[in-house]
Amino acid sequence: MENDRLNNENILNKNYYYNEFKSLGTNYNDMKEIEIYDKRMSSLRDIKKEIEDIIKALDIKEEDTLVEIGCGTGEFSIEAAKRCKFVLALDVSKNMLKYAKNKAHKRRVNNISFYNAGFLSYAHKGDLFDFAISNMALHHLPDFWKLIALKNIKSMLKNNGKFYLYDVVFSFDFDFFEKSVEDWINQAEDYRMKESMRKHISEEFSTTSEIMEKLINDSGFIIKSKEYKSGFFAKYLCIKK
Ligand SMILES: C[S@@+](CC[C@H](N)C(=O)[O-])C[C@H]1O[C@@H](n2cnc3c(N)ncnc32)[C@H](O)[C@@H]1O
Repeated sequence: MENDRLNNENILNKNYYYNEFKSLGTNYNDMKEIEIYDKRMSSLRDIKKEIEDIIKALDIKEEDTLVEIGCGTGEFSIEAAKRCKFVLALDVSKNMLKYAKNKAHKRRVNNISFYNAGFLSYAHKGDLFDFAISNMALHHLPDFWKLIALKNIKSMLKNNGKFYLYDVVFSFDFDFFEKSVEDWINQAEDYRMKESMRKHISEEFSTTSEIMEKLINDSGFIIKSKEYKSGFFAKYLCIKK
């Protein structure tokens, strides 16, 4: 009897789900790592242009709503919130959310809700979103769970809602796997960055472009456009079927 009760509770708690709250690769719960990440990203990436390109590709308007999954230090969510009605920013790291919330406060942006949940654990209730976006976060899940995550994202969107995905996805020549990876890691400017790229390859779950496209299609999105860069990066603009 007791066992039945426990089993039923376990099923209800969905404890067979992948635990997306455990940290992989870089520890995004560590405040020091978060500060380093934020500084590094603003020097490595042209964040302003990245954000502008996404806003343009999605054609985000004042009356639109958007959910970002894996918002990190909040750069995209905050800028997007200045251009639309409401942004829901999700992340599994409480400290990332704290950092992002503080940044939004400093920039006087208050039409954002920050919420501690991820691709798998977030259960949306309420009005559906016009847009979903995820930058550099989906590779934290193994492939099967990426599919479940994509299905969950689809369920949060209005019909014809758009989903923009940017991530590390492999499209290099797999006959030259080691050379490709070593060249990629060696181009990093400092030891810390090299270490985080090494961990990305050895501990995280980036997959191939063929698998990623299949997962996106199987989850019920149509890939409207895609772009592969330097064998390691991919951007997809997807529409809910
Ligand atoms: C490499 S950072 C990217 C942050 C930001 N999107 C950017 O482009 O700079 C990855 C982020 O994804 C978050 N993350 C990892 N697994 C996640 C999951 N299952 N659901 C939601 N967020 C996740 C991490 O906590 C971290 O903030």
